[in-house]
Amino acid sequence: EILVLDFGSQYNQLITRRIRDMGVYSELKPHTITAKEVKAIAPKGIIFSGGPNSVNGKDALDVDPEILNMEIPILGICYGMQLLAHDLKGGETTTANDSQYGPAEIKVTSNDSGTFKGLDADQTVLMSHGDFVTKVPDGFRVTATSEQCAISAMEDPDKGIYAVQFHPEVNLTKQGNQMLHNFVFDIAHAKDNWSMDDFIDDAIENIKEEVGDKRVLLGLSGGVDSSVVAVLLHRAIGDQLISVFVDHGLLRKNEAQQVLHTLGDEFGLNIDFVDASDEFLSQLKGVTDPEKKRKIIGKDFVDTFSKEARKFKDVDFLAQGTLYTDVIESGTDTAQTIKSHHNVGGLPKDLKFKLIEPLNKLFKDEVREIGEKLGMPDEMVWRQPFPGPGLAIRIIGDVTPERLKKVRDSDAILRDEFKKAGLDKKVWQYFTALPGIRTVGVMGDERTYDEAINIRAVNSVDGMTAEFAEIPWDVLSKVSSRIVDEVTGINRVLYDITGKPPATIEYQ
Ligand code: XMP
Repeated sequence: EILVLDFGSQYNQLITRRIRDMGVYSELKPHTITAKEVKAIAPKGIIFSGGPNSVNGKDALDVDPEILNMEIPILGICYGMQLLAHDLKGGETTTANDSQYGPAEIKVTSNDSGTFKGLDADQTVLMSHGDFVTKVPDGFRVTATSEQCAISAMEDPDKGIYAVQFHPEVNLTKQGNQMLHNFVFDIAHAKDNWSMDDFIDDAIENIKEEVGDKRVLLGLSGGVDSSVVAVLLHRAIGDQLISVFVDHGLLRKNEAQQVLHTLGDEFGLNIDFVDASDEFLSQLKGVTDPEKKRKIIGKDFVDTFSKEARKFKDVDFLAQGTLYTDVIESGTDTAQTIKSHHNVGGLPKDLKFKLIEPLNKLFKDEVREIGEKLGMPDEMVWRQPFPGPGLAIRIIGDVTPERLKKVRDSDAILRDEFKKAGLDKKVWQYFTALPGIRTVGVMGDERTYDEAINIRAVNSVDGMTAEFAEIPWDVLSKVSSRIVDEVTGINRVLYDITGKPPATIEYQ
């Protein structure tokens, strides 16, 4: 395993990601980890990440000095390099007047060994720093240089310490991946034996051991994460897993039936299905304020789930589909909090469970890979994001059964046509929404005064920003005519061409 110590750079996850892609397990740990803790993990190599602070500043982040003497190979990146120069005897890091940001050309002065072994002498790299190493520590030599940054890389092979001022983990550093590869295999001698099959076997063993003969409760939403956790746990402990699936009546067309069929009938999961749609709909009656809707649904969900949870005795554990990104986003230093999106956040105090989060070391695409390995169907593994409050936030104004039907039926048509056109795996998220306007139309010889519906289709990486997707006219045209034809009460179809920002992906 390769440990990555977190000094706060936005690229940190990318370092672990790149190394995992090489078949080597890698994990991000807080920079406050002690030498003793490192020893227990016994990593093959340690990477000090970049970070926004200055080693000379008041808010400098440091590292247990013992870690530098453990004879485990170290690679310092950006802040990591500056920290090494700062901490090791003879070295110096200076804050300059001008920071350096952007692609830069560097000259490698040593490519027969070390991080640059076998690589080109001229390299394009991404620089992003305000501090510069101005003196290498005793015993170190400079291995790359550039006009603006004389010490662009340094190393002391005897100590097993290597450092680069730029970011090898990003694509802008053309041969960055090979540099990491050199560190991982040539310098740290890690083995490429991290595979999903091993992960699944280990996870199942660990779950069995931890749970013993106790029972585990899981909130099933039909989403990728909770479904994969459910199937994984079921493999480990069978019917000791109780999956509570609350249908709030705001799901997409046939969604509840599909989840019950796939996970219940085909995978044999023990599902406690709660049809709470009447309750949710009556609570939502007359509510038009977006935040109020979300609050009502959130509270109702917790109430319904808690009531179900109380029905089962001797349940010690609550399983959740928390991902690595959720853990990292809440800060690697901090305790893992229950994912707020995961609807069971904020359970009443008397419901005390131990948490099981088997996916909390994984990235989303790794979770999908597990889903595939567990034999789960494409529709489930590659399911697009769907918000907890469901269709309610795609209906501007009142949520009534009639309007739910409009948004649900039109969404089903859109998904059907996207699938036929092969767009379902190409577009990140797509759905329809009722903007709450009525317009005049003509159908047959009749005047109509009906609702309009919006098509929303976006591409995104993480939902934080998004671009509207370009959908071929023939697909749009087909969707439009089918919707006005098949969905009662819709006489106009609109196509949303706004990105995020300034809009959000959902409508409320
Ligand atoms: P917005 O509308 O904020 O959405 O641009 C970004 C992404 O998050 C999804 N989303 C939610 N997911 N619970 C969820 O689990 C929610 O309350 C929620 N609200 C929005 C949205 O579908 C999009 O993918």
